[in-house]
Amino acid sequence: MKKLFAVLGDPIGHSMSPVMHKDLFSFYNIDADYFPFQVKEEDLHDAVKGLKAIGVGGFNVTVPHKSKIIPFLDGVDELAANIGAVNTVVNENGQLIGYNTDGPGFLQGLYNYLPKIAGQKVMIIGAGGAARAIYLTLAKEKPLVLDIANRTLEKAWGLIKDCPYAVSSRACSFDEARETLADYDLVIQTTLIGMSPKIYEQPIPLNNLRKQTVICDIIYNPLETQFLTEARLKGASIQNGLDMFVYQGALAFEKWTGIFPDILRMRDNVLKQLGGRTC
Ligand code: ATR
Repeated sequence: MKKLFAVLGDPIGHSMSPVMHKDLFSFYNIDADYFPFQVKEEDLHDAVKGLKAIGVGGFNVTVPHKSKIIPFLDGVDELAANIGAVNTVVNENGQLIGYNTDGPGFLQGLYNYLPKIAGQKVMIIGAGGAARAIYLTLAKEKPLVLDIANRTLEKAWGLIKDCPYAVSSRACSFDEARETLADYDLVIQTTLIGMSPKIYEQPIPLNNLRKQTVICDIIYNPLETQFLTEARLKGASIQNGLDMFVYQGALAFEKWTGIFPDILRMRDNVLKQLGGRTC
């Protein structure tokens, strides 16, 4: 019997996950399908109960439900519990178990640009949900330093204090981040600054950038933010948010099927979908 997979969010019309996963199920000859469901917060518990009752194979969870879904699941793995957010649910013998593949997806995509995090000096810009997933994932990889620059300093300190893994971290302002930029091997931009339609904004200028530094921006619309353009023009290696999106999906697919899918195929598929939408 065909297995059902899904993504729950609100809104959900923009999600590229259905096209990506439908293509993978068909490519690997798996008798399954994947649908987007728009679910309001007050209906989330019922939606999860319904999916469980009909024997869903698994599902993704997106904004704004990644944290709110946790109490409605049967269990959550350690990383997702520490992050406080679930983006992937797997039906394990009738139990709905939550995982977070956003942070690990970022890390896997990063390996193409920086083979190891251990011993590196890393700065994350932003302290929201995406930053939290990346911070807690990288903290386990033993970087020498893992600092957070954020507009609201208390939020950055809150994230640092919540971290159960031993890591050297401090919170700093955007001004300090700009001044100390040359100290870092890797800088990861996780805020919405520079996302379409406000494409001419960037969190900090990159005057002090060394070209040995890897600069990542988790935004993929546009594919190259102004922040990345400035970094590229200064000779640094740059990575946009496409890899994080594709790898989080690949890791979810692997959890559901045991198959780690063809990343290039997924990338091409997402780029095709973005074709009409990037500016
Ligand atoms: P997400 O889940 O996508 O990470 P979020 O949780 O709303 O989104 O977090 C947004 C991040 O972008 C935060 O770090 C936020 O800074 P604050 O903690 O100070 O709110 C940052 N951010 C958003 N708009 C910003 C702006 N105009 N200037 C500076 N920082 C901004």
